[in-house]
Amino acid sequence: MAVTVILGSQWGDEGKGKIIDFLSQNTDYVIRFHGGNNAGHTVINEFGRFPLHLVPSGIFAKKAKACISSGTVLDLEVLVNEIEMLKKAKIPLTNRLFISPRCHIIMPYHKILDVLIEEAKGKGKTGTTGRGIGPVYADKVSYNGIRLIDLFESKQFSQKLSVQLSLKNKIIKSLGGTPLKQKDVEEKLKQYFKKLKPYIKEPYPMLHNALNLKKSLLFEGAQGMFLDNDWGTYPFVTASTVLVGGINAGTGIPPKKITDVIGITKAYTTRVGGGPFPTELVDKDGEALRKEGLEFGTTTGRARRCGWFDAELVRFASEINGFTGVAITKLDVLDNFKEIKICTGYIYKNKKVRYYEIDAYGLEKVKPVYKTMKGWQSITKGIKRFNDLPENARLYIRELEKQINTPVKFVSTGPERSSTIEL
Ligand code: GDP
Ligand code: IMO
Ligand code: MG
Repeated sequence: MAVTVILGSQWGDEGKGKIIDFLSQNTDYVIRFHGGNNAGHTVINEFGRFPLHLVPSGIFAKKAKACISSGTVLDLEVLVNEIEMLKKAKIPLTNRLFISPRCHIIMPYHKILDVLIEEAKGKGKTGTTGRGIGPVYADKVSYNGIRLIDLFESKQFSQKLSVQLSLKNKIIKSLGGTPLKQKDVEEKLKQYFKKLKPYIKEPYPMLHNALNLKKSLLFEGAQGMFLDNDWGTYPFVTASTVLVGGINAGTGIPPKKITDVIGITKAYTTRVGGGPFPTELVDKDGEALRKEGLEFGTTTGRARRCGWFDAELVRFASEINGFTGVAITKLDVLDNFKEIKICTGYIYKNKKVRYYEIDAYGLEKVKPVYKTMKGWQSITKGIKRFNDLPENARLYIRELEKQINTPVKFVSTGPERSSTIEL
């Protein structure tokens, strides 16, 4: 029995979807526990290529059941479309996909406000995905949220919606937006609800029963450590808890049941949206990483900012989450580089500084200290055994392992499920 948590250890898009698809082949349950469709997890396997935003990436594994637990926020339209996409690909979903009625709904006004507030902030904008994530979580913690469970009681739902629309329309109007009509919002949501109803069932008892039966559980983290609302580069973060601690609140599973925490770690670093990025490359090397790594967002299509591996960040991610191992992804993207740099730490105001000693604005000013490694300049794409990697690639992996104080358990050498090395 294993209860494994998969977390992004940088700023998201580390290749979580790919590794979850790989690991879920031997898993009984795969569970999303936080975030929403700000996430975009790419899975490439025998069924095709799928950008998943809400349905767990383990949905393709025959044996696995997929749960969307209460910590996740749902755009019902996106979820309905994703279900349609999977049905078209002939992925069975009946009695395999379970959605918690406790999930908060991303309402149309959340999306409108996300965009309007970003615009209104001008230079102070943080570069959100515009999917309504900040506003929906703000409503959740300030007791203004509407949950899936509310849709089962039509009258109660209408009342709650009416209260929220009277509040939200005032703000929308004041920011220059077009107010929403109750009838339109209600009709659409009820249509989506009808389609989702067969899948709505609280996963909590199922998961506890699975634990009692010593089944394997795989938790699918979204985003990445440095987008965490408490410990990330605030305010350039997301609204949910990205840390391993999000499991208990977001699913109802006791933390002591967790056996493995795997940090998904890109062999270099990327970030989408605003915020500090000490090892960012705005030169031809950065351009090469973007081109080779196809670094364009799965959710918004925005070009991802690219830079060298930052060991200080991943070291901290490992410490705070208690990583039992990491998966190094996209090693193949580095195949053509003559030299590859690793940031081993930061200098701030002439002194060595740890990530947690400074805030996002301090992080903008740090000077990274680099160790330069020799590249391998040969093809690693698709390699499946560690010993088949070129020597300099093996030395690079071993150096990363040393720098982040965490064993490397997997190496990914391509986007497909089969391009994976298990150590
Ligand atoms: P996630 O959000 O962490 O699931 O990552 P994304 O799917 O948003 O972005 C990762 C991208 O890299 C996707 O396009 C994947 O198909 C791709 N990918 C994953 N692993 C590898 C790898 O080892 N090599 C290469 N070249 N691409 C990879
Ligand atoms: P996956 O799961 C990369 C970033 C946004 C923005 C910040 C806040 O695919 O790794 P939000 O819409 O959440 O309020 O935006 O967080 N962001 C991500 N970046 N990968 C993600 O998810 C992200 N989810 C949010 O770009 O900077
Ligand atoms: Mg992504």
